[in-house]
Amino acid sequence: MSIYGKDFAAFYSEKWDLWGARMWPFLSAVVAKEAPQAKTWLDLCCGAGSLLKIVGENGFQATGIDLSEHQVEHARRKAPGARVLAHDIRALELNQRFDIVTCMFDSLNYLVDEEDLFTAFSRAKSHLSDDGIFICDMNTYEGLKNQWCAMSVTHEPDLTLVIEASFDADTAIGRLLFTGFSRKRKHYQRFQEEHVERGYRPEEIERSLHHSGLIFRKYDGYSFGRPKKRSGRLLYVCKKNPPISIGGKIKA
Ligand SMILES: C[S@@+](CC[C@H](N)C(=O)[O-])C[C@H]1O[C@@H](n2cnc3c(N)ncnc32)[C@H](O)[C@@H]1O
Repeated sequence: MSIYGKDFAAFYSEKWDLWGARMWPFLSAVVAKEAPQAKTWLDLCCGAGSLLKIVGENGFQATGIDLSEHQVEHARRKAPGARVLAHDIRALELNQRFDIVTCMFDSLNYLVDEEDLFTAFSRAKSHLSDDGIFICDMNTYEGLKNQWCAMSVTHEPDLTLVIEASFDADTAIGRLLFTGFSRKRKHYQRFQEEHVERGYRPEEIERSLHHSGLIFRKYDGYSFGRPKKRSGRLLYVCKKNPPISIGGKIKA
């Protein structure tokens, strides 16, 4: 079952594409302090484009990547100045390096295999300029365990969306089953998508960051303060691990 199909992407773009604006004060403060010369910005898993739009409005050359062609279409409309491409971030090879790379809001949790998470971090690093910053946030095991256990219903004039969330504590896999009824003139058309995310433990995320050659600082992903033992979301600000000089030779 493919996800972020036409109907769900349309709903996401209109109602849920809010994370970029929420993260912008944090992101812009980090960039202003640590990469004030930054000009180019790559947003991985850009979704419907809210962050790309803001990034472009703030003078950066913005590039977005997303697996869903429908999300890409929304992002192109929302951020017309950005270059937006449909691609799997695990196989990304743009032949360009960027001053800032971001990957926000659950996106990396969709990679349920730790090897894929490592690959995504490695791809992010290979697209990062030497002084660049990579920023990402992820749901943790604790976050999914505590939050993905309910059912909710959203009623919009043209859409009713039923959301059933579940979490398997043994496998760390969370599932969101979206069943939507979207109005098509006089009828409602049903669609369904199952989104599968893995709730990563901090040590799993950090092992992959480390192995891909990134050093990091971390924050609680909701308060932007110090991470807590049970933070439901963690936010990482990463840089390339500088090469070590051994006896005059540089070791990457
Ligand atoms: C929860 S949305 C977040 C979108 C956006 N970053 C935001 O803040 O609103 C997750 C996005 O990740 C995309 N995605 C998931 N796996 C991907 C992959 N392997 N490569 C590229 N995009 C992917 C989905 O298509 C979806 O648009």
